[in-house]
Amino acid sequence: MNGVKKIPTVILGGTGYVAGELIRLLQAHPHFDLRAIVSDSKPGAAVADAFPHLSSVVGEQCFVSIEIAQQLLCNAPDSLVLAAAPHGVSATLIDQLLTHTAQAGRHPKVVDISADYRFREADAYQSVYRHAHGAPQRLSDFICALPEHISTLPSQHVAHPGCFATAMLLSIVPLISLKLIEPRVFVSGITGSTGSGRTPTEGTHHPRRHSDLYSYGALQHRHAPEVVSIVKTVTGDTIECHFVPHSGPFARGIHATTQATLKKPLKSDEVMAALHDFYKGQPFVRVSNQAPHLKDVVSSNYAHLSATTDGQTVAVVSAIDNLTKGAAGGAVQWANRLFGFDQITGLSAPAPGWT
Ligand SMILES: NC(=O)c1ccc[n+]([C@@H]2O[C@H](COP(=O)([O-])OP(=O)(O)OC[C@H]3O[C@@H](n4cnc5c(N)ncnc54)[C@H](OP(=O)(O)O)[C@@H]3O)[C@@H](O)[C@H]2O)c1
Repeated sequence: MNGVKKIPTVILGGTGYVAGELIRLLQAHPHFDLRAIVSDSKPGAAVADAFPHLSSVVGEQCFVSIEIAQQLLCNAPDSLVLAAAPHGVSATLIDQLLTHTAQAGRHPKVVDISADYRFREADAYQSVYRHAHGAPQRLSDFICALPEHISTLPSQHVAHPGCFATAMLLSIVPLISLKLIEPRVFVSGITGSTGSGRTPTEGTHHPRRHSDLYSYGALQHRHAPEVVSIVKTVTGDTIECHFVPHSGPFARGIHATTQATLKKPLKSDEVMAALHDFYKGQPFVRVSNQAPHLKDVVSSNYAHLSATTDGQTVAVVSAIDNLTKGAAGGAVQWANRLFGFDQITGLSAPAPGWT
C-alpha cells in the first residue's frame, strides 16, 4: 500500500496461543508490518508448523531469535514490540530489547500481554507472583489499563490487563467511576481452555475439561489483586474484589458475572443507561438488554455487557474472547492508540457467530 505508514513489528513468545492470535490479527492490519516472530524454543522453525491454520498468511516465514529481532529494532526509527511471553520471562526479555535498542538510539513502543508490568510496584508483583520482578526500574514506564478506560496515555509502554481482568474491569470501572456501587465486588467468571496456554497440565488438558465445569483457586486468583490495582490507577478508588474463576468446556471465551451493592436503589434501566453513556463512542463495547453470549464475541475484539438490578444489588454480565479482547486484540487496540491510529484499525471483524 503506497503512502500508508508501516510500523515494523516484533512478537515475543512466538509459538504461544496469544502469539498465534497476534499473527492472525496483524496479517489484516494496514499499519503494522510483522517483521519478526521471536521464538525461544524454535528459532528457525517454520511458523506454519506451529500454526497450520495461519499457513496461508505466514507462507515460508520462520521464527527468529531474540538477537535477530533486536537488530531489526535497532535499524527501525519507529517500531512496535508485542510481548506474549510468560510472566517472569517477559520483563527481562523486554528490558533486554529496550536496553539494546536505546544504545542504538531507538525506542520501540511495547505492549506487554503478560502479567509482568501490570503492577506499579515490584513488591506488589512479588507478593502475588512469588518471585522478584525481572526489571523493576521499568515499571514506571508502563501503565496497565483497558484502552476504553484511559483517555490520555501517560506512558510510552502499556501492559494489557489479563483476560479475566478484562471481562471484570469492563463491568467494574464504570460502576465505580460513576459511584453507583459500594467498593466491594463479587465476581464469578468462566474461561475457555486456551486461557491456560499451549502446554497442557494435569488440571487443564482436554479430557479433564471437556464436558465439565468446575471452579478453581476460589478467592485466590492473581487477577483479583490486579483488578484492584488497575481500578485504583483508573478511578483513584480502592475496592475489594472477591473472585471465583471456573473452567468451562470450550476453547475460547470468558463469561463473567460481577455483583455489588448499589449505593442507592436503582432500576435495571437506570444502570443500563449509565453503562450505555459510559461506553458511548467505544467501538468494541456493546451494552444491551440481551444476555451476553460467548458465541457473539468469540474470535472478535468485541465485548458484550448487560446489567440487572433488584433495587439494592446490581449484576453485570460480560462476555469477551480471552485470546482477542482479553489479550492479542486488546494489545493491538492499544498499539493503535500508541501510534495514533484509529483504535478499531485491523480489529473491526465481527465474531463468526457459530463457532
Ligand atoms: N491465553 C490467554 O487467554 C491469555 C490471555 C491474556 C494474557 N495471557 C498472557 O499472555 C502470555 C502468553 O500466553 P499464551 O496463552 O500464549 O501462553 P503459551 O501458549 O504458553 O505461550 C507462551 C510462549 O512463550 C514462550 N516461552 C515459554 N517459556 C519461555 C521462556 N522461558 N523464555 C522465553 N520464552 C518462553 C514460548 O514460545 P517460544 O518458545 O516460541 O518463545 C511459549 O509458546 C502469558 O504471559 C499469558 O499470561 C494469555
